[in-house]
Amino acid sequence: LLLAGALSGLAAATSSCSSEWEGPKGSAFSNRLRIPPLAEPEPAADGAKQFSLDLLAGGRAEILPGLTTRTWGINGPYLGPTVRVNRGDRVRMAVTNRLGEVTTLHWHGMRLPARMDGGPHQTIEPGATWRPEWTIEQPAATTWFHPHLHGTTAMHVYRGLAGLLLIDDPDGPALPSTYGVDDLPLIIQDKRFGADGALNTGDVDGGTFGFLGNRILVNGTFGPSLEVRSELVRFRLLNASNARVYRVGFADGRRFQVIATDAGLLERPVTVERVKISPGERAEIVVRFTAGEEAVLDSRGEDPKRANDIEEEDFTLLKLVAAGALAESALLPDELGGVPAEPPPAGARRRRFVLTGSEINGNDMDMTRIDEVVPAGAHEIWEIHNTTYAHNFHIHEAPFRVLDINGTPPPAYQRGPKDTVFIPKNAKVRLAATFGAHIDPLSPYMYHCHILRHEDKGMVGQFVVVRPGTENQVSRTLPQGH
Ligand code: C2O
Ligand code: CU
Ligand code: CU
Repeated sequence: LLLAGALSGLAAATSSCSSEWEGPKGSAFSNRLRIPPLAEPEPAADGAKQFSLDLLAGGRAEILPGLTTRTWGINGPYLGPTVRVNRGDRVRMAVTNRLGEVTTLHWHGMRLPARMDGGPHQTIEPGATWRPEWTIEQPAATTWFHPHLHGTTAMHVYRGLAGLLLIDDPDGPALPSTYGVDDLPLIIQDKRFGADGALNTGDVDGGTFGFLGNRILVNGTFGPSLEVRSELVRFRLLNASNARVYRVGFADGRRFQVIATDAGLLERPVTVERVKISPGERAEIVVRFTAGEEAVLDSRGEDPKRANDIEEEDFTLLKLVAAGALAESALLPDELGGVPAEPPPAGARRRRFVLTGSEINGNDMDMTRIDEVVPAGAHEIWEIHNTTYAHNFHIHEAPFRVLDINGTPPPAYQRGPKDTVFIPKNAKVRLAATFGAHIDPLSPYMYHCHILRHEDKGMVGQFVVVRPGTENQVSRTLPQGH
């Protein structure tokens, strides 16, 4: 149950006190899974879909039984609405910052001009409205949005600023797609709570690996359960946690099908028992239910549990209770329409990125430095060499395929189009990325570790996309105050 958010611009009351909430870990499943509402587009004369997103502080949510948690949210007390658009749509956003402090709103997974991207350069001052607009020119996918201000991304996301942006393709395959019925978002986050119910923020900006919580929320719901009413259900998994990696599956070991990775549909469904998602990653899965049954979605750490030098705990996520009679679902199509991975063209440019504790290629983030200059439309191989504990790697604008991890191709369910990839400790990962056509030598896109603590500490690089042949004429330093 979520209470109305006050629009006061007050900072959320938070605590870093040592007294932690000692209630159950979450296996009670006594709360109905909250489904983020769909954002209603306001029609525009030119046919564009307009959405208003208000970034709010001072939300009050009843997350733990009988306690009030002060949260941040978008158009509501915690998390945001789900924005749903079609391929080909013109989208116009009005993002109003009512937080009382500066922030940004980034469209993670969206292919769009860098000035519309919402990265650390597109700051929104308190009280201001930012109005990006663009045309959706990419396949159906589950994308999302979250703040991206350099240094405070972890805290802003942790307090509750995140939401989904779903792209449908009217020419795509027939898939379960009735929102809230057989097409359900599952936004997975870990938190710590004080005894009074306050979000415990003490570790958000600390530690080496980043914040790891001990209670799991799904769509902002603690201990959630959901009634299933159709034979097939599509879940859109988003790991919107600060640092934690999940391996999602069912307690009873049942198999299910993965139909999409971060940036779009697979060629065909892949049957698995578990999917691994690190912060920022998405996976769309389809699960079959039998009338009257119950199933528990959970996360199981890798064996051995510290294989990647990160803490991997087991958590239950969501109880699913199938109704006594289920609506019949069409069979999943054999072909999903996802484009097969093409081998990178001969002579594709290679770039190397060495990850250390908090740096990429020996550098911290510098908002005035352009690290890489990429010609528009380029196909490139990016090699990420991790010399420490686990990280992950996200590239703005440019979808990629994972070619290999330590020389071995990724599991079949990770071979679809992606924008974020887990990088195991001491591993070399090769990506084949395709860059877009939005030329702007003065406005960079980011690539970074999506463990938000690492991102805030500076594990971020900047690239610009330029007219082919002009790479050497482009300034590597952005004008002051850009
Ligand atoms: Cu999800 Cu650069 O971000
Ligand atoms: Cu992004
Ligand atoms: Cu990292």
